[in-house]
Amino acid sequence: MSNIDPALRKLDQALGSGRVLTDPDVLASYAVDESEVPPHLPDAVVRVREAREVADVMRICAEHSVPVTPRAGGTGRTGGAVPLAHGVVIAFEQMNRIKGIEEDDLIAVVEPGVITGAFHSAVEAVGLFYPPDPNSLASCALGGNVAENAGGPRALRYGSTRDYVLGLRVVTADGTELSVGKRTVKGVTGYDLTSLLVGSEGTLAITTEITFKLLPKPQAVVTMLVLLPDLASAGRSVTQVLRAGLLPRCMELLDEATLALVRPLSAVPIPQSAQALLLIELDGDEIALDAQLERAGAAVVAAGASEVLVARHAGERDKLWAARRELSRALRKSARFKLAEDVVVPRSRIPQLIDACRRISEQHKVQMPSYGHAGDGNIHVNFLWSDPSEEAAVHAAIEATFKAVIALGGTLSGEHGIGVLKAPYLPIEQAPELIALQERIKDLFDPKHILNPGKIFPAHVQRFHGAC
Ligand code: LAC
Ligand code: ZN
Repeated sequence: MSNIDPALRKLDQALGSGRVLTDPDVLASYAVDESEVPPHLPDAVVRVREAREVADVMRICAEHSVPVTPRAGGTGRTGGAVPLAHGVVIAFEQMNRIKGIEEDDLIAVVEPGVITGAFHSAVEAVGLFYPPDPNSLASCALGGNVAENAGGPRALRYGSTRDYVLGLRVVTADGTELSVGKRTVKGVTGYDLTSLLVGSEGTLAITTEITFKLLPKPQAVVTMLVLLPDLASAGRSVTQVLRAGLLPRCMELLDEATLALVRPLSAVPIPQSAQALLLIELDGDEIALDAQLERAGAAVVAAGASEVLVARHAGERDKLWAARRELSRALRKSARFKLAEDVVVPRSRIPQLIDACRRISEQHKVQMPSYGHAGDGNIHVNFLWSDPSEEAAVHAAIEATFKAVIALGGTLSGEHGIGVLKAPYLPIEQAPELIALQERIKDLFDPKHILNPGKIFPAHVQRFHGAC
């Protein structure tokens, strides 16, 4: 099995002195991500600077059967970057160059450590647009976005990370460097391994370069903050706006409980009478936007909105978004323990999902505030508790929620991946034969199971989870 000491000696020789970090403080900072997975210390960390080093690390670790966990921003929500099996963490924060933005071809080539928000600024500075906008965009990195197929509010109109990845350079589990995909919009040569690798949570190969497709930057954006007397009218608003022939770039929902939490943090007053809130954002050409705004306004008013605030300039739009951006952190502070899910249902069934959550919350006596990307049916149902004795009830409530989601035609994870935390529930959605087929794909890419072990598959997670 693992043979860490000789592997670390070889890594030292291959990479040069001082590159293999084993200082306890450094190891501790790579033991967690932004999920509730308990800390697992790696044996060593290598902050790679180029693809060749990733290949060296993989080759040596494969030779000695040492587990490797890749890590970009470390902001994952399901434990993807937690080194469950210990071993070596390959950290990408120093591999953060934007290698090129090719304006005429509408593509960009980047390293995995580029911070998503910085990438947005760089492409927007030349009039282009990279739509995926995970809420952690100020600190998450593109390599992690690729690993998790990250989404965000704008996925409603523009899709998630996978929709923008044309090609990847990767290092496989035995240290081979490969290019997959293409740098053109069209291309149907061979199997679509790019799509398979995007969202594979670092379990099949390690990304060292990404080629993204870009769009022209929309000329103008307008944000509407819609206050509603209840959740039912919020659900109706989402449907009515889409029925009006509009496809906003996002429609974000806050329920009564999350609204209560952010009311004191909001830059605009939110009266007590508002029991649900929608943030709707439209983009496009300035002139066309006015007409769209009018239609969207009429649709939400017809659905029961009590107040609509509109912002066109960046500073004002930020004010409307401020409370929404703080939600995840505010929820975390509001209780001793929190688990956050990212379920998806067909968008027309959001009211049914919310009803189911209300029933489950009452039955199991667990607080379940919900918010999220209502336009595409992706809702963050949060489970809050303050006493460890409530844990069993929380897990029962989570399981009941997942079953309700599947019964409504939905899926367990819209943007955070399965990782460690959702693995026990995978069989609720996927047939044993499908899980087994995916495990065979894993075996093919990584026969020694050294790449991010203990993720996605229930049997893999059970092998490590809890062992520190
Ligand atoms: C959000 C993150 C948690 O949307 O996905 O806030
Ligand atoms: Zn989200």
